[in-house]
Amino acid sequence: MTKEILPRENISEKTIILDVGCGTGQTSAYIAEKYKCKITCLDNNEIMLEKAKKRFKSRNLSIETKHGSVESLPFGDESFDLILSESVAAFTDVSKTLPELRRVLKPNGVLLAIEMVLEEPLPKEELTTIKEFYEVPRILTVPEWNSLFQKANFQQINIEKVNLQFDESDFESATDFSISEQLDDKLFAILDQHLQLTEMYRNIIGFRVFKCCV
Ligand SMILES: C[S@@+](CC[C@H](N)C(=O)[O-])C[C@H]1O[C@@H](n2cnc3c(N)ncnc32)[C@H](O)[C@@H]1O
Repeated sequence: MTKEILPRENISEKTIILDVGCGTGQTSAYIAEKYKCKITCLDNNEIMLEKAKKRFKSRNLSIETKHGSVESLPFGDESFDLILSESVAAFTDVSKTLPELRRVLKPNGVLLAIEMVLEEPLPKEELTTIKEFYEVPRILTVPEWNSLFQKANFQQINIEKVNLQFDESDFESATDFSISEQLDDKLFAILDQHLQLTEMYRNIIGFRVFKCCV
């Protein structure tokens, strides 16, 4: 999805980008190699950041990594031209996260957030099961996200449902899991439950790309 939406932005070598909740740094590495711009990535999980650093080192990329929370960003006001939040804000207290993202964007800056949305109402127990499994405080609908972005003072909120067709032989687009050497067996059970929930709620839990301008 990132590969689909990034070419529409005006990214040059001078663009300063922040990738929040960068995980293992797959997107940051892709951006640094394609656009040769300055990119900083942040995550609150040390293991994710270690994997990201290892990836950048192996590809000889100079990408700054920061440990911290998107709810309280360790950056000054108006620091970035473009922020990417790929499946991150939904896991946080958005009433803190969205104003923080807005604060660190420069005038005319852009936030691209790819976030989970609730497409249709669900019975309370089923919603609770999903929220507890993913440890998300809420699953927001599109209008709820829209009004929270507005409340955080973002302008021109463009909301898009991107339908991607994956070819099973397209390994380039696959998620690179960067698996740890020693894994607790319970993590496989968690992955299995994630796959089951994804299949069960494929028409109820969706994603949108929110493009929000300053
Ligand atoms: C679903 S993963 C997405 C990773 C990456 N953006 C991607 O698309 O591959 C969510 C990431 O957000 C990070 N995260 C969750 N809460 C966070 C917070 N409050 N501050 C910073 N990162 C956070 C997690 O550690 C994880 O790496």
